[in-house]
Amino acid sequence: MNEQQICAADPRLERVLLTQEEIRTRVSSLAREIAERHRQAPFYLIGVLKGACFFLTDLARELCLAGCTEVRLDFIRTSTYGNEVKKNGEAARSVRIEGPWTEMAGQRVILVDDILDQGFTLAALRRHVLTTLGAEQVETCVFLEKDLRHPSPEVAAQRASFKADYVGARVPDRWVVGYGLDVAELYRSLPFVAIVKEEHFR
Ligand code: IMP
Ligand code: MG
Repeated sequence: MNEQQICAADPRLERVLLTQEEIRTRVSSLAREIAERHRQAPFYLIGVLKGACFFLTDLARELCLAGCTEVRLDFIRTSTYGNEVKKNGEAARSVRIEGPWTEMAGQRVILVDDILDQGFTLAALRRHVLTTLGAEQVETCVFLEKDLRHPSPEVAAQRASFKADYVGARVPDRWVVGYGLDVAELYRSLPFVAIVKEEHFR
């Protein structure tokens, strides 16, 4: 089945947003951008589970092809949304953190996440790795960044105060799945990114 056929066969999927080919192109250009700054010295890629799993493994291999061979991998896990699509106006929430499983003191780190939405998750992780774990430098890389339509003042302030260093693609303010991204743990293994019809998951 091709991408369009998979979407058409599933009434809960609205449409394809990024094809496999588009994903490959974006990941490889992100890797070249990162390599420009980091080719000279070793660093850690820390993937945020579970959403960044496919992005991290693709990015790590593209980084190698772009000349970054001294790359180490680890993971970190947070719990934020649970099994539901976020409700409008929902903003502040606590973030539970597990991992990474290696010592990060004095390391240069790039945190890798699937999507920047309100920005609370990655901002909290960046603070944690820098301040609590004592990394020397922490940059952030997201595959997708959402263009929020009507952010609350609190969310707008959060997004203004936290920018990801590397962004693969910007997406509309909809719930997207595939390439690691889920809704209620479904669709992570779609090889492309699609928009879901949110009414099926409320
Ligand atoms: P933030 O703190 O609002 O930036 O939350 C970001 C996290 O929420 C991401 O790491 C994703 O796990 C999840 N998330 C946000 N938007 C989406 C989406 O459209 N699809 C799937 N997961 C999402
Ligand atoms: Mg996530």
